[in-house]
Amino acid sequence: MYEQRIRRPELMSKVMTAAQAARLIKNGMTVGMSGFTRAGDAKAMPLALVERSRNEALALTLLTGASLGNDSDGMMANAGVVARRMPFQADAALRRKINTGEVMFIDQHLSETAEQLRSGDLKEIDVAVVEAVAITADGGIIPSMSVGNTATFAQQARQVIVEINLSTPLALEGFHDIYLPVARPHRGAIPLLTPWQRMGWTSIPVHPDRIAAIIITDSPDSPSNALPPDEETDAIARHVIRFLEGEVQAGRMGPELRPLQAGIGTIANAVLHGLIDSPFRNMTMYSEVLQDSAIELLDSGQLSMASASSITLSAAMHEKFIRNLESYRERIVLRPQEISNHPEVVRRLGLIALNTALEFDIYGNVNSTHVGGTHMMNGIGGSGDFARNAQLSIFVSKSVAKGGAISSVVPMVPHVDHTEHDVDVLVSEWGLADLRGLAPRERAPLIIENCAHPDYRPQLRAYLAEALKGGGQTPHVLEQAFAWYGRYKRDGSMLVK
Ligand code: COA
Repeated sequence: MYEQRIRRPELMSKVMTAAQAARLIKNGMTVGMSGFTRAGDAKAMPLALVERSRNEALALTLLTGASLGNDSDGMMANAGVVARRMPFQADAALRRKINTGEVMFIDQHLSETAEQLRSGDLKEIDVAVVEAVAITADGGIIPSMSVGNTATFAQQARQVIVEINLSTPLALEGFHDIYLPVARPHRGAIPLLTPWQRMGWTSIPVHPDRIAAIIITDSPDSPSNALPPDEETDAIARHVIRFLEGEVQAGRMGPELRPLQAGIGTIANAVLHGLIDSPFRNMTMYSEVLQDSAIELLDSGQLSMASASSITLSAAMHEKFIRNLESYRERIVLRPQEISNHPEVVRRLGLIALNTALEFDIYGNVNSTHVGGTHMMNGIGGSGDFARNAQLSIFVSKSVAKGGAISSVVPMVPHVDHTEHDVDVLVSEWGLADLRGLAPRERAPLIIENCAHPDYRPQLRAYLAEALKGGGQTPHVLEQAFAWYGRYKRDGSMLVK
């Protein structure tokens, strides 16, 4: 019945229900699930595990590529199935459990998880649960809309549960390029010299004996929850485009720019969308996630190809993408996240990295993860993999949050994800600060005058003036540096009345 999807006949006997397959997972195990920013996640097993947890204790360490869709992270967290979670999440219910301390969250650079598993720095995966389009005649697992960490999980796990998703088109076969580095210390260079190069397999090689169960599913990925562009994101996009035009005019790059990386979420998607109105042509992407904006640029012809680890689209764009799948076959490559985010490759290709900050400080340090310095939002994701190693590391943010009550430009960020050393350019809807070659004392006035909201500029100027009196390479008044957070808690606004 599923001959096209299970091409190795003896594996037919492994088809079972999700409830039956869930028995393979025991309390305390480490489970690696496919799924990366809502794309290609296992659909049936999270539900089966939640169901099982109603009658017995089941607390797992759950590793994925990145965030899951279908409310899986939230449902598993609420049921107590997830005791430990890594390396990324973006779910409101799970976020609450993390911030109350009920779930231990290990926030990691997304390129690092596979490396740590391979090195034995993390406990090995007991069971891998992976969504697939099909299993090939030689036992290869063809992933669906993401690769993420699936290849590492499937190769390391003692047992592999495959979810064959009938709603995924068979034509996805051939989009993936599965290449995994060998263990250190005898590793050579990753032979990737251009974003479009292929160097691996189109499926994940797994010995058929380790495929312990096959579940048949047919539910689609959750659509992207990125919001449409607005006035502020349009303004941010205009500043970024003008800056990149300057880079071309200065002869630092051609009109094809450098391979682009764009982070997750509404703002990065909107900024990339803004490139539709840019003069740049024959651009390429070497990114982690392709959102709607990447497909728009492929369709407009401005982007010649895109490499990533997952494709996360709105419902309408997903439908269009699947309908025209063949037109993208030669122009999209899906890679393991270890390769899409690999520092060695990012540095070699000279990327333009575009990521979003929750907030940044007057010296250029960026907080992307911790609201108010303490509460986890999503995680660092791949932003650190890219920011440190890109040719140009750009961070964007709206200048204020929560209707103006929070300034996204602060004296000192209370949590640092990206240090001043990894940040070249900062952009808000008000303007852009090019920090390259500038000392902290030179950066601060530029960031305040170009990026901060006008309402907050007097406060920031006053802080800087006071800080300068104390001297230093990076002047601060430590007793006042975090006072803005106290004021927000107390008065409901960071603004001095
Ligand atoms: N303090 C508190 N909350 C803030 C804030 C600040 N300084 N700045 C923004 N927020 C809130 C917003 O109000 C919004 O809250 P809501 O969901 O209650 O409306 C939320 O953060 C998201 O902000 P938004 O402006 O919609 O931006 P976004 O969807 O583009 O997401 C990040 C921004 C930083 C959360 C997101 O990009 C992220 O998780 N980044 C880290 C991982 C990463 O960069 N990965 C990319 C590598 S490829």
